[in-house]
Amino acid sequence: AIVDFFANGAEKPLQGRKMLVTAGPTHEPIDPVRYIANRSSGKQGYAIAAALADLGAEVTLVSGPTRLEAPRGVTRKSVESAKDMLAACEAALPVDGAIFAAAVADWRVETEADQKIKKRDGELPSLSLAENPDILATVSRLKSGRPALVVGFAAETETIIENGKAKLAKKGCDWIVANDVGNESGTFGGDDNQVFLLTNETVEDWPKQSKDAVAQTLATRVAQFFQGVDA
Ligand code: C5P
Repeated sequence: AIVDFFANGAEKPLQGRKMLVTAGPTHEPIDPVRYIANRSSGKQGYAIAAALADLGAEVTLVSGPTRLEAPRGVTRKSVESAKDMLAACEAALPVDGAIFAAAVADWRVETEADQKIKKRDGELPSLSLAENPDILATVSRLKSGRPALVVGFAAETETIIENGKAKLAKKGCDWIVANDVGNESGTFGGDDNQVFLLTNETVEDWPKQSKDAVAQTLATRVAQFFQGVDA
């Protein structure tokens, strides 16, 4: 019984739980040498993957291109485009919980050119765009095999709580971590983050803290969620 206590008890509360985390940007190919991207560093998602693993979870980290090393004890699947990220997430299911921290590109180029698009004097290529799949909404709305806890992020520059609540409803997820990415916030590429945790019932205003601390607080909340599920 004592052994059980240490194996399943307070120290490693996510032992035996499978978690999926997405992180980083996506790269949407234009041709073999060019792509559309964004400024996401992947830091927050990587920190979340590490914090969940520290609590004993078996973590799959589906990551777009970043400069970061895979955290210890985390299985990383590296992808480039949003479509590949969705496929890698689907391959990682079933999981107990999923946290979608990736900055997925909203659009991809409709048809990727198989050869480098030539520069021609006086001629501008035109790119036609197609909408990318919404990975968070897709997983949130799964009819069978939906993770028990699905968490999304909302990067906002104004009316953070209101927009975050709207996103919760629109995506069909359980929690939204909403943060301010306005110019003064320094969130993009920075080490600190000030977030709100929104659920259908509650709004929590977390103090400004490092992305690592946000990740640890979130991982603790995830562990509490699953303790409640078991109780
Ligand atoms: O709609 P918006 O991009 O603001 O939503 C952000 C949340 O949705 C994040 O959790 C992000 O990881 C997720 N997302 C996604 N697939 C997309 C777009 C966003 O999983 N195509």
